[in-house]
Amino acid sequence: MKKIEDHLNTIQDFVAGISPEQAMKKVVEYLKDNFPHYSWVGIYLVQGNDLVLGPWKGPHATEHVRIPIGKGICGFAAASLKTEIVPDVSSDPRYLQCFPSTRSEIVVPIIYKGMILGEIDIDSDLINAFTKEDKEFLEHVASILAEKLMETRKSEG
Ligand code: SME
Repeated sequence: MKKIEDHLNTIQDFVAGISPEQAMKKVVEYLKDNFPHYSWVGIYLVQGNDLVLGPWKGPHATEHVRIPIGKGICGFAAASLKTEIVPDVSSDPRYLQCFPSTRSEIVVPIIYKGMILGEIDIDSDLINAFTKEDKEFLEHVASILAEKLMETRKSEG
């Protein structure tokens, strides 16, 4: 099995030289395709006071394409700037249901110098699917994406 370090190097390599939009799409696909406990993977981007769904990969589309910051697990993580792991979604009153099969969820904010740009949202059909290793790995992926998203913003001035 590929080590986390190798996954991060692979991601770092393929995002170099492509646009932020392509990078987000490729990262979503890579995560979905390489981690069997990631049942649905999506990226939400901050637009005003909302999180708006960008690229995603999974068996079904979600109706939650726009989530106010502060609402749901997604909105909570965006407001707190902290990764949220929900081991059992059925016992978290904040949870907004997207898919009946989801049992656990992780939401990892994409932060650049203290500013929230968006987040990686992953649902799992397994209970308690997300470990400290997933958290550390995905926080690294989020920081690669944060740099990538800021590339064009910096060049646009
Ligand atoms: N469950 C999330 C909503 C997004 S879907 O999982 C794709 C939440 O509680 O914010």
